[in-house]
Amino acid sequence: MAEDALWARDVQKRYERRGTQPVDALRGVSLSIRPGERVGLLGRNGAGKTTFLRIASTLLWPTSGEVRVFGHDIVNHPEEGRPLIAVVPQDGKPFMHLTPYEQVYTYLRTRGFDRATSKQRTTEVLGQMGLTEVADRLNLALSGGLRQRVMVATVIATEAPLLFLDEPTIGMDPFARREVWECLRRLSKKGSTLLLTTHYLDEAEQLSDRLYIIDRGRVLVEGSPEGLKAQIGGTIRVSLKGGMRLKETLATFGTVATDGLDVHVILGPDRVEEVLQLALREKLSATVGPVSLEEAFLRVVGRSIDDES
Ligand SMILES: Nc1ncnc2c1ncn2[C@@H]1O[C@H](COP(=O)(O)OP(=O)(O)O)[C@@H](O)[C@H]1O
Ligand SMILES: [Mg+2]
Repeated sequence: MAEDALWARDVQKRYERRGTQPVDALRGVSLSIRPGERVGLLGRNGAGKTTFLRIASTLLWPTSGEVRVFGHDIVNHPEEGRPLIAVVPQDGKPFMHLTPYEQVYTYLRTRGFDRATSKQRTTEVLGQMGLTEVADRLNLALSGGLRQRVMVATVIATEAPLLFLDEPTIGMDPFARREVWECLRRLSKKGSTLLLTTHYLDEAEQLSDRLYIIDRGRVLVEGSPEGLKAQIGGTIRVSLKGGMRLKETLATFGTVATDGLDVHVILGPDRVEEVLQLALREKLSATVGPVSLEEAFLRVVGRSIDDES
């Protein structure tokens, strides 16, 4: 059987700085990714996603634990893993005073590719990513979406078999996000293995064959987006705005999750009407919809992904 593209066992990371409390960013993360899989690491801000990605991409040392990239122990021999991976870091930006062409070409040269190969790949990748038209403009003149595409193009051009992307669409408008999603889908069709982190549930659902939901440095659950939704045990979600005070009553209808002062009830179709009657009597506005990954997340983590409290 082929080696896992990435294999991590009980990875722990404690950040220690003099004069401050140590932070246990990872408390024993284990995961494995088969070659060609697209895996999402989903979690709230501060969950430990970036820390894990930095460790898996040899940019940071774990406090303890094992990490293998295609069988290579990258904790003790990072140099063995490096040619096999490429990373789009969180908040990574292209060099503003280079053009997309120069950006990709220069990166390939620093990774050790010869001139001819670098030239050919740069032209090819810029074409695939729809960047040919802007290839000779300065990155600083490009929109946020295009800059991110340049970042993605840069790692794709390496043809590294394992790619890491840390929040690849953070802060982008919906159109730019979709463009990046499209690029990543195409990439994965070509056989690349992807590990991406995100705190966008729709992105996780759109781009992942499999998800690990992490919170406070631990993996809470793992599965396909469909599988995770199926675990919730209901098909319909009723959300009651300001329904917190009815939490106990609502729990008799189905699974309840809170989100600030709002309450979501996950239940089967037969009891939806009763809940809506209750909302009407209590003068609360209610919305009804199919369960989504958001409910799976609420159920597993106990808080909404945007709940910063
Ligand atoms: N260099 C650092 N020094 C101290 N604490 C850190 C450092 N980097 C991250 N942390 C802390 O570690 C935890 C996990 O952070 P991070 O991995 O960035 O999470 P995420 O990417 O999921 O938002 C957070 O509590 C964060 O504040
Ligand atoms: Mg992060």
